[in-house]
Amino acid sequence: MTKIAIVKSIHPSAIQFLKNKPNFEFEIIEDFSKENLIKRLPSFDAITLKTAKLDAEIIDKCKKLKIISRHGVGLDNVDTNSIKKNNITLTITTKANAIAVSEHVMFMILNISKGSNMYDKTVREGNFLNRVKLKKSFELWDKKILIVGFGRVGKDLINKCKAFGMKAYVYDPFVDKKNIESFNGIKIEDINKFLQETDYVSIHAPLNKETKNLINSTNLKTMKKSSIIINTSRGGIVNEKDLNDALNKGLIHGAGLDVFEVEPPDLNNPLLKNKKILFSPHSATFTNECTERMGMESVENIINFFSNTLDKSKIIQL
Ligand SMILES: NC(=O)c1ccc[n+]([C@@H]2O[C@H](COP(=O)([O-])OP(=O)(O)OC[C@H]3O[C@@H](n4cnc5c(N)ncnc54)[C@H](O)[C@@H]3O)[C@@H](O)[C@H]2O)c1
Repeated sequence: MTKIAIVKSIHPSAIQFLKNKPNFEFEIIEDFSKENLIKRLPSFDAITLKTAKLDAEIIDKCKKLKIISRHGVGLDNVDTNSIKKNNITLTITTKANAIAVSEHVMFMILNISKGSNMYDKTVREGNFLNRVKLKKSFELWDKKILIVGFGRVGKDLINKCKAFGMKAYVYDPFVDKKNIESFNGIKIEDINKFLQETDYVSIHAPLNKETKNLINSTNLKTMKKSSIIINTSRGGIVNEKDLNDALNKGLIHGAGLDVFEVEPPDLNNPLLKNKKILFSPHSATFTNECTERMGMESVENIINFFSNTLDKSKIIQL
């Protein structure tokens, strides 16, 4: 019998799917303190993993472990060196997330551009007739959006932007011009130069040495006063302090943040007081549909691994 540890419960459809697999048994582990994981995980062959941290010490103790199936795409919570050293396969849910994240980006873009909070407040406070005096909202049609990172999410987002009549530009040094053009996008070589003319920026690149503080005080001050920045990728790519300053000085119009340099953000972080930012708590994928897709895909990756039918695109090459 192959034993699967489900580290933090997943969608009921995925649990039901597993119950119907006679060669597999599973346990759900809700206490993901290091102490408990070191005690429990060594007896399992496979793990589905949400956000619990698996460090080198835990992984080195899991001598039976053959596969870690991430419920999601980020690898921040796993020690990839010890996964490689112990010859463990690491998979991600490649198909599940992009739709939900790109919808979340459109939600943030529309919410900020259309001034939805301002209009809602006006009606609730009995100021309906003041509507002509309110700040004008923005249309998306014919506006420029810069998509930074053209992987799964970036590619899904461009279609949605196009449907709104936006002009889509892509900055991704690792994706060639032809590929971007096949999505009706335009490849940008110099991000700092293009930031001066774009109306929207949406971040979909990983956090690494090159992308840390990619959006900072130097390029923020060159951007259009009407521009809007959305970050649903990883905190730290947009420098939080510089973003806050730029918004307070009126250098840009607004921002949408699903991710933070430190999560959860400190309540004393001045950013949280800034009314020009629309926040969500790293929840871009928290739709009912996406949660079900991620649960199913994370379990299917394990089943397919043990039957040698796992699609290679699901495996992280370490
Ligand atoms: N908010 C959420 O809940 C949520 C959900 C899913 C993904 N994410 C994050 O969103 C990001 C994108 O996810 P994805 O699934 O599209 O990833 P992906 O791996 O499919 O695509 C990432 C893209 O970024 C590009 N890239 C790498 N370095 C770059 C650089 N220096 N400048 C510009 N582009 C660069 C890569 O070439 C690749 O095309 C990841 O960081 C992921 O962790 C967040």
